[in-house]
Amino acid sequence: MGRIMEIDIVDLAYNGKSIGYDENGKVTFVKGGLPGEKVKVKVVKNKRNYNQAKLLEIITKSPERIPAVCEHDDICGGCTWQDLEYERQLSYKREQVIACLEHIGGIKDIEVGEIQPSPEKFYYRNKMEYSFHIVPKEEIPEGFVLGMHERGRFDRIFNINKCYLQSEMSNQVFSYLRSEIARLDIPIYDLIAHRGFLRFVIYREGKFTGQSMLNIVTGKGDFVAKQELTESLTKQFPDLTTIVWTVNSTMSNIAKGDVREILYGPGYIEEEILGFRFRVSPGSFFQTNSRQTEALYKTAIEFAAIREGDTVLDLYCGAGTIGLCASAGASEVIGIELEEEAVASARLNAEINSISNCRFYAGAVRKVLLQKELKSKSFSPVFVDPPRAGMHPKAFKRLLEINTDRIVYISCNPSTFARDAAELIQAGYRLRRLVPFDMFPHTMHIELVSCFEKI
Ligand SMILES: C[S@@+](CC[C@H](N)C(=O)[O-])C[C@H]1O[C@@H](n2cnc3c(N)ncnc32)[C@H](O)[C@@H]1O
Repeated sequence: MGRIMEIDIVDLAYNGKSIGYDENGKVTFVKGGLPGEKVKVKVVKNKRNYNQAKLLEIITKSPERIPAVCEHDDICGGCTWQDLEYERQLSYKREQVIACLEHIGGIKDIEVGEIQPSPEKFYYRNKMEYSFHIVPKEEIPEGFVLGMHERGRFDRIFNINKCYLQSEMSNQVFSYLRSEIARLDIPIYDLIAHRGFLRFVIYREGKFTGQSMLNIVTGKGDFVAKQELTESLTKQFPDLTTIVWTVNSTMSNIAKGDVREILYGPGYIEEEILGFRFRVSPGSFFQTNSRQTEALYKTAIEFAAIREGDTVLDLYCGAGTIGLCASAGASEVIGIELEEEAVASARLNAEINSISNCRFYAGAVRKVLLQKELKSKSFSPVFVDPPRAGMHPKAFKRLLEINTDRIVYISCNPSTFARDAAELIQAGYRLRRLVPFDMFPHTMHIELVSCFEKI
């Protein structure tokens, strides 16, 4: 039985949990709870250096606490801070960036810019991924759910009636799909027995183009009802521009695989960013908040200060978006990206926008940068936009070997950014500017754009 105690919440941690101290001064992380609140909690993990506790009751409420708009706020793993005023979410996120720089990177003498709020606080996502899960018919008559994970539960999915982070159309598509799957009696994938069929559904849309795509991810097998389902979906949603069927025949529980068939439309959508048109294919990365992406790219390009004759390097380039948006003033842009599908999109995106000075390489940054034709070039500036884990040590070594005078580092994880930033400073760079961006209101995620110059 966990100990029950009353504590004062004094801060928020990067993982979205709140922080208080027990009577012995041991730090206690609580799910829920806001700074300034007195709460009753139950200790669920008693470690040597910290406790983890479950919120039982809010004794004194923070004046910053607001009612969450979403009916699923108490269980959904998507949002963390819907019950915290947006202005406060922003200031906490900025403080987190400063704390990571100080505590992880030992960087204190940098003026962190004002955090840029998302142009939309709700309905901002252009992509949503739902999972299927079998449940007993006594619980839900259909015998399955299609939705998000419950907070902190990898094994529990719940039906979402309406999610406020995605568009009204995507909510309607998911809800209609749920009823059609029940009507057509399409089997759901069983994660334990590794049998069955439907695994995930991903909805993507172009916020500026109005195009939308449904990607149905299944296990192995014949999609018997595919035609009937496609006809019914496109009749119900004439604005749905494409439907694809992807097969993940592996045991790993991820919404990825090989596109087996385009069931309707062209098999991709397009989105517009800063006046450029980009193809978004089912498997390729694309920034999730289109409107805020425009603001983030603008800042990144401003920081890059591209001069005539510059050869620009775009590391971790995805579908080539940053490099293509920045290509106008440069002599040449070279993009490097691991995923073949994204590189194919990047090449196509260059063609669609009639851009002829960009070239894209498929492969890991640490390997591609060793290629002879790239080793002989001198790059300036270099855009770096790695996944959450930050740069691989070997990729980082290659970056230093390039010896560029300007690096624009975009990050979706202030912790790994702080680590890499400290190493860049040690290697003779100065962190000149840093601006945090809120790409994901109501969640704990933080994005930032920074600029390093060789001293
Ligand atoms: C945060 S995304 C950035 C994409 C792009 N810059 C944009 O703004 O849309 C990171 C990208 O890095 C790619 N990636 C991951 N590991 C990589 C590696 N070792 N080498 C090259 N690219 C990698 C991912 O596939 C993904 O497209």
